[in-house]
Amino acid sequence: MNTHIVWHQSTVTRGQRERQNGHKSFILWFTGLSGAGKSTLAHRVEQLLFEQGCRTYVFDGDNVRHGLCSDLGFSAEDRCENIRRIGEMSKLFVDAGVIALTAFISPFRRDRDLVRALVEPGDFVEIFCDAPLEVCEQRDVKGLYRKARAGEIPEFTGISSPYEKPLAPEITVRTGEDGLDECAGQILGYLEKNGKIN
Ligand code: PPS
Repeated sequence: MNTHIVWHQSTVTRGQRERQNGHKSFILWFTGLSGAGKSTLAHRVEQLLFEQGCRTYVFDGDNVRHGLCSDLGFSAEDRCENIRRIGEMSKLFVDAGVIALTAFISPFRRDRDLVRALVEPGDFVEIFCDAPLEVCEQRDVKGLYRKARAGEIPEFTGISSPYEKPLAPEITVRTGEDGLDECAGQILGYLEKNGKIN
């Protein structure tokens, strides 16, 4: 890092922003295989929080890779950098008083733990979208599993690149079996119970 840069302290604090917004800010980090339902669930949870008057924003893997991370591929190094950037971005959103919802495969435990360590305890809520590979592959919404099996997509998560399940996620949703509303309700329930939302 350049040694001639100095952090500029904001005069408006995170706490003041949270009070004005009427809720705490934090990260809802959705992780899971391609096709596990991360994006769909993150957007449904955002909709529900938004309807309650919360300030929210969803960072979606495919979308972010169109811009901020368009220079990155799917090697372990590039995935690590992808998650690092999203982590830093989410941290800024937390400081801005916003509930940041992120939907990335984020297959490596170490990368997710680095994001957890970036923010204050309790600010990182890890949500494991637990859908078996067979279910994701059968859904194959984008046709990517078929291509990966045919060898057309290298380093495809679950096929030719690993996915490391979270060891102690705050929430596990069984997106392979349970419906969207049930999973979203489970997440809202956790947030209420833990005083994150009213
Ligand atoms: S990561 O691992 O967190 O950096 O990946 P992410 O940024 O979430 O991007 C995942 C989406 O990219 C598409 N895609 C691939 N996924 C996994 N492996 C390979 N090799 C790959 N190539 C392209 C795929 O559409 C993923 O979207 P989701 O929504 O997860 O299905």
